[in-house]
Amino acid sequence: MSQNPVKITVTGAAGNIAYSLLWRIAAGDVYGPDTPVELSLLEIPAAVGGAEGVAMELNDSAFPLLRGITVTDKAETAFEGANAAFLVGAKPRAKGEERADLLKNNGGIFGPQGAAINGHAADDIRVVVVGNPANTNALIAQQSAPDVPADRFTALMRLDHNRTLSQLAEKLGVLTTDFENVAVWGNHSAAQFPDLTFATVKGEPVMEKLDRDWYVDEFIPRVARRGAEIIEVRGRSSAASAAAAAVDHMRDWIRGTDRWVSVALPSDGSYGIDEGLVAGFPVVSRNGSWEIVRGLELDDFQRGMIAKNVDELKAERHAVADLLN
Ligand code: NAD
Ligand code: LMR
Repeated sequence: MSQNPVKITVTGAAGNIAYSLLWRIAAGDVYGPDTPVELSLLEIPAAVGGAEGVAMELNDSAFPLLRGITVTDKAETAFEGANAAFLVGAKPRAKGEERADLLKNNGGIFGPQGAAINGHAADDIRVVVVGNPANTNALIAQQSAPDVPADRFTALMRLDHNRTLSQLAEKLGVLTTDFENVAVWGNHSAAQFPDLTFATVKGEPVMEKLDRDWYVDEFIPRVARRGAEIIEVRGRSSAASAAAAAVDHMRDWIRGTDRWVSVALPSDGSYGIDEGLVAGFPVVSRNGSWEIVRGLELDDFQRGMIAKNVDELKAERHAVADLLN
């Protein structure tokens, strides 16, 4: 067992997602069974009491890997020495809202947190933004952290990726692990593009097993609108599935994966996505870094779907221009 604990900061620690996420992190599901963890919980002053209660319950769970918990309402303290950060703290949308409706309220959270990461986090800091609208919030945080490599700021597309796998597995009567080369491009919004063009199931092309009209007219909107469907049915936004996806994201980033997964990261201009926009791409993870899957030949349908996301992300970036450095 390695002796030095890693420090993991979770914002929104008294909230719904954190109530699932923190238990997975403390159990070693991100860095693995040999790495002790220290947790740093950030909340707004009014919810620090709630976060302290969460910390008491974490301690009561007697996790062998958990080496300490800090609770604070100061971002500088929360990110001091952090190796990984889950930026969850933000308002969820209610029924009838789109995620972009949260931009003005939530956007203001991410500049100061980016600046605190810039000044206080460890050199190997990795950030995943979960709070919505996640892609543009990640852009705001990244722009406020000029000394941190831009590709350490990511936003969560893994929930969309997992939803894609689960819908497909149900449709074809197979396991989610039977699929390869699934990609979700673009924004974590209703515009997102769950792309099956390159997907295989047990080594065979998925699209040979599906009706194209079902793919275009039912499957893509179903995945893209799943967040709203959960809010409609559950009465509040997804939480445990978001936490599970955030763990998948950070675990694969740190420990590697050759299997395609979907991650939103600052674009390097690949596939016609404007440089700097935080957009979902198919990626693998090698040596602790995400690598965009290169060399894919996109058809007109794919290009059109991706362009719709680029337009939306540019509009979001424009809407928060005053928060960007
Ligand atoms: P929640 O309301 O239960 O909890 C949010 C917590 O964040 C609250 O305790 C609040 O006090 C805290 N918070 C607010 N501002 C903060 C700040 N500046 N610093 C620290 N903490 C702060 O919400 P939730 O269900 O946990 O969802 C959190 C966010 O995650 C929402 O924006 C939601 O839309 C988003 N979400 C994203 C995905 C995704 O796939 N990206 C999935 C599900 C939910
Ligand atoms: C989700 O996809 O479930 C979350 O982003 C919550 C939401 O508002 O849809």
